[in-house]
Amino acid sequence: MRELSLHIIDVAENGIKASADFIYIEVAEDIPENEFKIVIEDNGSGIPEEMLKNITDPFVTSRTERRVGMGLSLLKEASERCGGVFDIKSSDKGTIVTATFLHDHIDRAPLGDMTSTIMTLIIGNHGIDLEYKHIFNKKDFIFNTKDIKEVLDEVPITDPTVLGKLRTMVDEAVKKLKKGID
Ligand SMILES: Nc1ncnc2c1ncn2[C@@H]1O[C@H](COP(=O)(O)OP(=O)(O)OP(=O)(O)O)[C@@H](O)[C@H]1O
Ligand SMILES: [Mg+2]
Repeated sequence: MRELSLHIIDVAENGIKASADFIYIEVAEDIPENEFKIVIEDNGSGIPEEMLKNITDPFVTSRTERRVGMGLSLLKEASERCGGVFDIKSSDKGTIVTATFLHDHIDRAPLGDMTSTIMTLIIGNHGIDLEYKHIFNKKDFIFNTKDIKEVLDEVPITDPTVLGKLRTMVDEAVKKLKKGID
């Protein structure tokens, strides 16, 4: 089973390749509704209409080094295997990918390490801003690099001390959210 956070990196990187400078990632867990939802939005150049029609066909890719693109088709397959729905909307203003899963489906992969996922995206892409929202049973936690950069002023967000603190902050916030502590 592939951790869902790895799918999230893949999809976010599609947006970055399409010149996005803002990525929004939402993970929404609703236990009473038995739903696990992932949304990844970017403000990149979008997917051409012709390509969008067959986007989850693994042979559709703009890669030149290999002919098969896997990112979106793998996520679609994972979601549908787990009783969920996959959707992708795109225009020249950006792209929104949504994948749902039955929360308790036996084949639903664990989310994996979202803190590392966020940190990896920040380290690899200095210029982009990122918002991560984790909703657990309707309560949420939001992490936004724009807010953090304002507080940091001159210090780069990729400074190792800053990254260490951010990592702890995100880890603890998500833990608290799941325990239902405000
Ligand atoms: N958010 C996006 N914005 C613009 N184009 C996109 C976006 N997501 C996907 N695409 C286009 O769709 C193609 C297929 O995407 P997909 O992630 O399935 O495969 P890939 O990125 O080509 O390869 P892989 O993910 O295996 O590295 C991409 O090559 C790209 O041209
Ligand atoms: Mg991809």
